[in-house]
Amino acid sequence: MGEVDPAFIQDPQHRPKLCATEAEEIPVIDLSPVTNHAVSDPSSIEGLVKEIGSACKEWGFFQVINHGVPLILRQNIEKASRMFFAQSLEEKRKVCRDERNAMGYYDTEHTKNVRDWKEVFDSVAQDPSVVPLTPDEHDDRLTYWTNASPQYPPHLRDTIKEYVEQTEKLSFMLMELIALSLGLEAKRFEEFFVKDQTSIIRLNYYPTCPSPHLALGVGPHKDVGALTVLAQDGVAGLEVKRKADGEWIRIKLIPNSFIINLGDIVQVWSNDAYESPEHRVVVNSEKERFSYPFFLFPAQETEVKPLEELVSDQNPSKYRPYKWGKFLIHRFSTNFKKREGENIQILHYRIK
Ligand code: OGA
Ligand code: NI
Repeated sequence: MGEVDPAFIQDPQHRPKLCATEAEEIPVIDLSPVTNHAVSDPSSIEGLVKEIGSACKEWGFFQVINHGVPLILRQNIEKASRMFFAQSLEEKRKVCRDERNAMGYYDTEHTKNVRDWKEVFDSVAQDPSVVPLTPDEHDDRLTYWTNASPQYPPHLRDTIKEYVEQTEKLSFMLMELIALSLGLEAKRFEEFFVKDQTSIIRLNYYPTCPSPHLALGVGPHKDVGALTVLAQDGVAGLEVKRKADGEWIRIKLIPNSFIINLGDIVQVWSNDAYESPEHRVVVNSEKERFSYPFFLFPAQETEVKPLEELVSDQNPSKYRPYKWGKFLIHRFSTNFKKREGENIQILHYRIK
């Protein structure tokens, strides 16, 4: 991408201030009580659960260290991703997604409704993944999302697969800790993911931007799934909106850490005990940036609603149930249309 095309220029209220606050750090949580087999002291896990609970309550965002994912897998995905995105647009567009199969490559030239200064390569964790054919609630037809097979680099698919296996494992472990922190059984969330989960691994590429004060890599948004496990390479840019005052806080780089954020589904399951945080990505004029989020998504037929254990007469359900698959497909299909701001939101299901 060259000069900033007007299509990418953010509305004035969304333009980034390029000196985001770094004074207050989001929590950094050491997972060794659950990843280091030598540690078997239940009280150390109790402490960890408490930490997770307060991080979820206060921020919905935290970083984890000693997470058990081998560094080499991450280095491999970083290398492969750089090789893929370094190709010409023409080459990359050979594995473009389309309206029927949302997996593969896209750049925002294709989907001008979003002003994001980035390119993406999406893959499903479970290939193929069953999803609804249309967002229409009266249409029961299903289809599959399958992974694209770029010719270059030849090992891209295998590299992604190896990486996903580990990040998925990490995300399940985190869901157990989150369940415990809400006073639930550790395995409470398992049923939603064991069969036919629709999780996605995304390779994000943010090219350098000549006017970073006008554009954003990703505009302010909340993640729609249960949980996001993100690796960023050596260039910062991810920012989270602090709940207390709406200030944007830059996420500090910690080598080999993962950045975790809650998504809308956990917000609904917990009946707003935890909220999914708003975040965005700032670009810069000198260094391109790469990131690798794993979005943990349940099976398409999952009916998302507050968990029975977490609602009561005093704390009635705050959401009407919605079908995950329909929600997901709605989100992806609006990406193909110029309908910014009309994306489906959990807010539409909130009981007033
Ligand atoms: C996203 C996202 C952050 C990043 O893709 O939803 O928030 O650092 N990405 O790339
Ligand atoms: Ni996000």
